[in-house]
Amino acid sequence: MSKLLVVHHTTSPATQELLEAALSGLGIPELSALQVETRAALSATSADVLSSDGCLLLTPANIGYMSGAMKHFFDQIYYPCLQETRGRPYALVVHGNNDTTGAIRGVESICKGLDWRPAGPALTILGAPTSADQAGVADLAGLLAAAMLGW
Ligand SMILES: Cc1cc2nc3c(=O)[nH]c(=O)nc-3n(C[C@H](O)[C@H](O)[C@H](O)COP(=O)(O)O)c2cc1C
Repeated sequence: MSKLLVVHHTTSPATQELLEAALSGLGIPELSALQVETRAALSATSADVLSSDGCLLLTPANIGYMSGAMKHFFDQIYYPCLQETRGRPYALVVHGNNDTTGAIRGVESICKGLDWRPAGPALTILGAPTSADQAGVADLAGLLAAAMLGW
């Protein structure tokens, strides 16, 4: 069974809403062939990544970059996972209040180094998430799931 790893840094009700939107998008019956595992970025390990087949990343933008927690995740897993995870699909959601450009650039550059492939364009959510934002997160999670299941 394919395993999708959700790695998130959830700091507030707004970011929690996005995590829940992603998980509800992945919880539909059509995706029952997919196992979903959720890890806070500060607790996710290289073993979690190695035992999965794709990764959904959710981070706030902080001072023009990804959160320190998400950077810590990448610092820990980069070399242990470099050889064995090439070509994997991933998707990225960044929450911010004004500008997520640097956070997206940072994550995309590390994922390029890992040779992970985006299942869709990175998604930016600014401020309080609307229902359209939540639907967008669920859709992106679905795109990632589809890529992993070879649809
Ligand atoms: C120290 C700090 C730096 C931040 N830097 C950015 C930033 O560079 N870009 C941005 O869009 N939002 C920035 N934010 C806003 C956070 O992304 C936002 O607080 C986080 O996503 C949680 O959302 P919420 O505060 O609406 O609950 C920053 C917040 C803090 C506390």
